[in-house]
Amino acid sequence: MEASKIDRIVRQYGARESAILAILQDIQAEEKYLPRETLEYVSQKMRIPMVHVFRIATFYNALSLKPRGRHKIDVCLGTACHVRGGDKILDKLERDLGISVGETTKDKRFTLESVHCVGCCSLGPVAVIDGDVHGRLSQEKVPGLLKDFK
Ligand code: FES
Repeated sequence: MEASKIDRIVRQYGARESAILAILQDIQAEEKYLPRETLEYVSQKMRIPMVHVFRIATFYNALSLKPRGRHKIDVCLGTACHVRGGDKILDKLERDLGISVGETTKDKRFTLESVHCVGCCSLGPVAVIDGDVHGRLSQEKVPGLLKDFK
């Protein structure tokens, strides 16, 4: 990411330690991940030790040090979704996308993750794609679901 873009984001929140999470989230929203050199630049710019910036970047699930796809799929494996076949949805997505959970497709279109309860248990099994909840899923519905994002 260009230094000028990072500077703009830091200016927007102020170079305060309490703003570091919001700053990293904004960078991630633009870049889809947090490259190491970007974290080093933020550390220097904000005069916050790299170890602290790195700790925050690795603590939160929403942040990633690896490139992510344009669309993020979170399959719920919480108890209610699990008993309704959440693991089968994940299995079908892994097969259809050709990746394992935690990975990104080669064309950078999808990143597949698992989560534990997104608060829509009655709709289970549930997957959240780019923040939108898709409920009452079945393996048969997965191809149609993916088609909407191609
Ligand atoms: S267990 Fe899946 S939404 Fe609650």
